[in-house]
Amino acid sequence: MDFFSQISKGFKENGYLIIRSPVKKEDVSEAIDNFVNFLKLPDSFKNQLSPNLESNINYSESENKEYLSYSPGIKRNINSPEIDNFILSAEKIYAVAKTAMQEIIIQLEKQFPGIHKNFVPHHNVNPYHLVFMKYGKDLEKIPARPHYDKCALTLLLSETNPGLRIGINNKTTKPVMAAKNQAILMAGVRMRSITNQDFRPGWHEIAHDRKNNINENISRISIVFFADITEGPYPTFSEFTNSIEYSD
Ligand SMILES: [Fe+2]
Repeated sequence: MDFFSQISKGFKENGYLIIRSPVKKEDVSEAIDNFVNFLKLPDSFKNQLSPNLESNINYSESENKEYLSYSPGIKRNINSPEIDNFILSAEKIYAVAKTAMQEIIIQLEKQFPGIHKNFVPHHNVNPYHLVFMKYGKDLEKIPARPHYDKCALTLLLSETNPGLRIGINNKTTKPVMAAKNQAILMAGVRMRSITNQDFRPGWHEIAHDRKNNINENISRISIVFFADITEGPYPTFSEFTNSIEYSD
């Protein structure tokens, strides 16, 4: 089956497609270690990296989760070996993930001529972001709720624990865990606007088993690469769902 048929079928029927991972295991381990070292820094320090769209590194925290994202941009002027180390390892993963994502998009050119132009940086908006997510230990209190990603494509590069469930709606979510050499590709809510109705966004959630906590503070870490289109509105929830596709 060619790539177009695989991705159309995967997104339409399952909400995802498993592909070969573009990242090296040792680079992922190193990046996770650097992320964990960053997480140990005091909140007052981490909060200096509060989100600013134009900067290369952004930190945020909400509902039992912490996020550190990397994207080429204006360098934050912060003197910290933890941040320097994190950026070095994030840069490596970003580069290979971006190449892999661009190859995926180019493979769709035949069916959707000009699709790659949606992913060219425009008006200082960078379409690509690498995000490290840490889930705290109280997931049973505040679960990772089911959602669609607010982007065009999501590539889940690494997850330390099982618990991810994906489907095309609440009735069809099922556990999905990629092998070490695999990555999980999903559409977000903006993919259909540049492709066709088969490119359904993946409906996903984290249903964590607390026995699998990494340590007393961390239950799960994932590394995700997002690609978004640089122009056009975001659809509202009701615009890309209907009673046939989505149901509680
Ligand atoms: Fe998500």
